[in-house]
Amino acid sequence: MIKVKVLRYHPQKDDESRLETFKVDKKEKMKVLDALNYINENYDAKISYRCSCRAGQCGSCAVKVNGQTVLACKAEIMDGDIIKPLDFDVMKDLIVDRTITDGRVKELELFIDECDTYQCPVNLKPEDYENSKKLRSCIECLSCLSVCPPLKETSEFAGPYFMRYFGKFALDPRDCDERIQNSFDEGLYCCTSCSKCVEVCPKEINTFGGAIEKLRELSCRKGIGPLPPHKLVRELIEKTGRSVEPLGEGFIKAISQKPPSESAELKPKIAFFTGCMIDYRLPEVGFALLDVLKNQGIDVIVPVDQVCCGSPMIRTGQTEIVEDIVKKNAEVFKDYDIILTVCAGCGATLKNDYPKYGVNLNVVEISEFLADNLNIDNMNPVDLKVTYHDPCHLSRGQGIRKEPRKILEKIKGLEFVEMEEPDRCCGSGGGVRSGKPDLAAKIGKRKVDMIKDLDVNAVITICPFCEYHIRDSLKKEGLDIDVLNILKLLQLSYKST
Ligand code: FES
Repeated sequence: MIKVKVLRYHPQKDDESRLETFKVDKKEKMKVLDALNYINENYDAKISYRCSCRAGQCGSCAVKVNGQTVLACKAEIMDGDIIKPLDFDVMKDLIVDRTITDGRVKELELFIDECDTYQCPVNLKPEDYENSKKLRSCIECLSCLSVCPPLKETSEFAGPYFMRYFGKFALDPRDCDERIQNSFDEGLYCCTSCSKCVEVCPKEINTFGGAIEKLRELSCRKGIGPLPPHKLVRELIEKTGRSVEPLGEGFIKAISQKPPSESAELKPKIAFFTGCMIDYRLPEVGFALLDVLKNQGIDVIVPVDQVCCGSPMIRTGQTEIVEDIVKKNAEVFKDYDIILTVCAGCGATLKNDYPKYGVNLNVVEISEFLADNLNIDNMNPVDLKVTYHDPCHLSRGQGIRKEPRKILEKIKGLEFVEMEEPDRCCGSGGGVRSGKPDLAAKIGKRKVDMIKDLDVNAVITICPFCEYHIRDSLKKEGLDIDVLNILKLLQLSYKST
């Protein structure tokens, strides 16, 4: 027997929701849906839930289990599972109100809209179909809308489900409506590129890369997007090679005056891809990297001609200049065995986007690099209580979640506590911090709410954008909690006595 909890609520009868516990005789590979059926059959519980196909095809049975969105007919039930409805208004128990979503589909005329000139093709050609094939496989479970962080903070954003629709029609030559303009009007630039919608989609639809990024690119080509602050970032990159203005001398400039072992015959030859933020805004993280690697007996080169990775341009749809950026960096880094990154966004871009331009570098993120090989012999205890924030472009962008925690485990004296949703977006990505600062602040506030009661001294992360944004968000709430790159924490452990 296993114990399962189900959230019960009938708005017409109940003042508030309650969790009810049931014992379930679990058979091998029993699904969440089977458990709900079992409960109703054996306890006459009358729990309301949707299901139809029982085969992962109709999307009706989506629920949250332990906070994660799943299809009840596909996910296995486990002891201690807590089953709740998706994050929409509840009609009864696990049944949510879909009428607002359905109403918007109608209002936005999300069906093929042929023009009156009889010039639209009647059928799709195979190549057209290929472009939008994945976007067509949606089963309308609405999981993506249930988890989208910006959608919880603003009505300006229609949400990933609708962006997928716009993307599907924008890539369909039979459709003649203004889908790109529509998507822009419905908050195309509110998406933080966190890819939570991609993670929860039971059909593995890449709504961000396959629809939102494409729509942003098309909107830029049509002169609709991006937002004015994004244009300034492009101008800056074109002028300086960097996406931000320097606050001081800059890390690379400081390093180039005393090059670390440039002439030495290193094996393997390791280069540090700094990214704009570490070079111009958080040079102390770059120096921490050098210190940590020195303590590990590892030499690294910081090539001086490197430029922005291109992520801010790709994420906001300004892709005309990306090929040049990729070429420049490919030339600078082509002779290195390992390219180390300390910025989640840079790492994800070098690993996931550069191959689309024919450039395949051996990119290793710093926690991947250190997790198994960290020499802890000369590390002193660090008397701090910390939590860890998973940057979206590290956890979902690069699949790195265990490695930073492994490193934290090795630091003696450190007390570690997980926050409620460590991989929930902080609000800074996708051009939202620059383009929609109020929205970024609201999403950041949710992160702060998860941190403030943990009684920690610091939040550890490995992304300069997250570091900046969470620090700002904590300050706005008047909280004296530090935000540190994991390298700064390691550096601290070498220096403390
Ligand atoms: S019942 Fe159809 S997807 Fe689960």
